Amino acid sequence: MSKSLELTLEDRTLLVTKPTGPQRRFHYVWLRDNCWCAECRVEQTAERRLLTWSIPQDIRPNTVDAVEGGIVIDWNDQHRSTFSLDWLEANDYSQASLKRAREQATLWGGDFEVPRFAHESVVDGGAGQLAYFNAVQEFGVAIVESVPTVPGEVERFAKTVGHVREVAFERVHNVYHDPEGYNVAHTPLELKPHSDMPSYHWPPSIQLLHFLANDADGGESVVVDGWHALAKLREANPDAFEILTRVPVPYQLFSEDEDTYAVAPMVQLGHDGEVATFRFSNQLALPISIDFEMVEPFYDAYRELGEIIDSDDAKVVFKARNGDLLTVHGHRVLHGRMPFIPGTGARHLQDVYMEFDDFMAKRRVLMGIHKPMSSGALR
Ligand code: OGA
Ligand code: ZN
Ligand code: ZN
Repeated sequence: MSKSLELTLEDRTLLVTKPTGPQRRFHYVWLRDNCWCAECRVEQTAERRLLTWSIPQDIRPNTVDAVEGGIVIDWNDQHRSTFSLDWLEANDYSQASLKRAREQATLWGGDFEVPRFAHESVVDGGAGQLAYFNAVQEFGVAIVESVPTVPGEVERFAKTVGHVREVAFERVHNVYHDPEGYNVAHTPLELKPHSDMPSYHWPPSIQLLHFLANDADGGESVVVDGWHALAKLREANPDAFEILTRVPVPYQLFSEDEDTYAVAPMVQLGHDGEVATFRFSNQLALPISIDFEMVEPFYDAYRELGEIIDSDDAKVVFKARNGDLLTVHGHRVLHGRMPFIPGTGARHLQDVYMEFDDFMAKRRVLMGIHKPMSSGALR
């Protein structure tokens, strides 16, 4: 194979041509940065030792040779690197720069059925847990059913799938009718689709809601794919979408002991231009204070988005069963509830907050991605 490998030293890049398949092109600085020798790497972990910023701007090979299975480069900084062809192919970035973009989310609407998982299969780990993580990754929502209706069980569950993130609420937060309660969730009122904790600069990205008792009349749960709603707005009215990525909104949320406050646009984009975080909480937004001429455009954009979110096309409504544990991706999926009638039956749920990254960290292990990156050096 290597015999027929053609290596062309270009001005700033190495062109690698095989008789068949695409041509691949690598910057010299990238190749030097990704050297796999023992001097450039911590051998037992594959972490980088080479200081990337120490690579000279004029780095280039003195010579490049094709050998069996790969290439050998002698650099003008007196260093030698080897790369296997397999590794170069696996890490080629010259074809499609978006190849390794984020994993696809599947957007859904009002006819979606929230995927359900058996409690045992998730807490046992293995394939059942992986299926649950996959659903949270893809849809941003999942229900684990028949979780024992014991107070505190939600925290036990949380520990099997990640780490509890403590916030201004109690570590395990109780939601039931309480005329003295500090939050609208403690009333029997409807809660429109919302995200919790927008008053943090990094709101919790996972929320668990465990229904210990859901016997009151009403109180049906509502979930909405916020990213889908935003995609619709972006398509229909890109200017409105853009305004929501720019206009800062202050949010406040308090408990008995703490008062949280953050200012952020409703929509924050990631490096790929897609929605990364979404805050939507009508009840917790404080008066906006923005450029005078932006006030009405902001309200127009908010109105258009609110109508999309609050429509039957977007809302999945279901009555959670006792023992259901609803998981939502807090930066994507909005949750809410219909009003309920106190005195018609018990209604008690417990919330715990967590982080999506911790879910994905466990998922990578279950997927078998749990090792130092394979070496790119020739053996
Ligand atoms: C909450 C909440 C929903 C419900 O506590 O954050 O939205 O069903 N509760 O009571
Ligand atoms: Zn090296
Ligand atoms: Zn909520």
